[in-house]
Amino acid sequence: MSIDIKQICCIGAGYVGGPTMAVIADNCHHIQVNVVDINKTRITNWNNDDFSKLPVYEPGLAEIVKRRRGINLHFSCDVNHNISIADMIFISVNTPTKLKGIGAGQASDLKWIEESARQISKYSKGETIVVEKSTLPVKTAETIKLILNGSKDKSDGKKFHVISNPEFLAEGSAIDDLSHPDRVLIGGENDQAIKALENIYLNWINKEKILTTNLWSSELSKLTANAFLAQRISSINSISALCEVTGANINEVAIAIGMDHRIGSKFLKVGPGFGGSCFKKDILNLVYLCRYYNLNEVADYWQKVIDINFWQQKRITHKLVKKLFGTISGKKIGILGFAFKANTNDTRESPAIQICKDLIIEGAELRIYDPKVNNLQIEKELDFKESFTNHLSTTANLYEACLDADAILIMTEWEEFKRLDFTKISTMMRKPSWVLDTRNIIDRKKAKDAGLNVWNVGVDY
Ligand code: UDX
Ligand code: ADP
Repeated sequence: MSIDIKQICCIGAGYVGGPTMAVIADNCHHIQVNVVDINKTRITNWNNDDFSKLPVYEPGLAEIVKRRRGINLHFSCDVNHNISIADMIFISVNTPTKLKGIGAGQASDLKWIEESARQISKYSKGETIVVEKSTLPVKTAETIKLILNGSKDKSDGKKFHVISNPEFLAEGSAIDDLSHPDRVLIGGENDQAIKALENIYLNWINKEKILTTNLWSSELSKLTANAFLAQRISSINSISALCEVTGANINEVAIAIGMDHRIGSKFLKVGPGFGGSCFKKDILNLVYLCRYYNLNEVADYWQKVIDINFWQQKRITHKLVKKLFGTISGKKIGILGFAFKANTNDTRESPAIQICKDLIIEGAELRIYDPKVNNLQIEKELDFKESFTNHLSTTANLYEACLDADAILIMTEWEEFKRLDFTKISTMMRKPSWVLDTRNIIDRKKAKDAGLNVWNVGVDY
């Protein structure tokens, strides 16, 4: 017999919690899904009548929220009440890398997880299944269990089952990934709790795609999957530098190796380096874990994936400065794209952050345009100061960012950047004008025919 789930509570209404719960609500009309967050602005925005103003932009998400909000999908700040009525609680809070203290720069800061566990321990009633959704270091479930069981009064009838159900969605394709996942991973010890979560997924996912493991395998699989994906990006980016000096073309190399079915063609796109909230954080967690267990060679191996990513970002800044005669002081540079990838408004760990900061230090005047990221977000990520006033502005229009520029730097692979009007851009820019395409999305010939100089990552001829 499995536990019947009628009320779900999700703690954390962010990029994972919001879309995941929307898809559950859309597929399980018999379950009430309550998404809670301590961030009032975020909740207000989830409840916005203007569906284009939801706090998370994901293709297809607004339509689902429109269909289910107020019916079986609710967004609220009342964390305690929603915990108290829940049969199943997803923890989907943020777990950023620690900034200070032991493990700073590597280990995840689990204070939001701990806080959630304490709230659950205090306000839940009866038998509750607690699902780890956030990406976490291995053995976090142990911490959650200790908090849940440690602080409870033995006579209060509370009972907890902790299971791990890592999320593999990628931003920009979250709804599709949640609707048609490659696999759903559930790790745990209690068969009834596992079955209860499995039953939820069975409303739209085939049983063969649901994999159950022990808790630690589930937690480690998530870190390992992200580490492997990030490793492919660092591998192809490292080869892009070799292409530039030898006259090879990285796009051709990627196709050639990707046709080998053992390698496969996905995740071989060169770029300015990986961004997003997961890859770097998860690899740092892996490195920290390996060092903890004295596996220093393993730790060094994975650390290199991050080092190459940072190096790629620095390389792009150097390349731009070199192309503009060794100095960009006082020169206008148009930055096209600030999100860490297309189809999201998320800027966490976006390679554009480091590159823009370095360009400002070099004295450039940046004009940044992104179709989905607002100016406040850009200024926040770049630690905007008074002294930046002449060096940083954002534009609401793509072509405005190109006006009088010596170079434009394409940072994100937005669709609209694939169809740039180079004839128009060429007349707007100062000569000699450069287009540096870090995503290899433009038509090089069209740009060159319009009189522009072109550089692509991994293609320098
Ligand atoms: C990633 C994982 O894909 C997902 O399974 C996990 O749940 C969360 O972390 P996400 O960070 O949202 O998802 O996006 P992803 O598509 O993986 O891209 C991450 C970064 O790698 C982006 O900056 C992207 O531009 C870059 N990337 C991706 C490349 O540079 N080249 C590629 O071929 C693919
Ligand atoms: P992710 O990408 O993992 O979803 P986000 O930062 O987008 O991460 O979302 C995490 C959310 O969790 C934030 O909106 C944050 O306010 C919320 N949060 C953190 N701690 C708590 C808590 N104790 N109770 C409720 N919400 C929380």
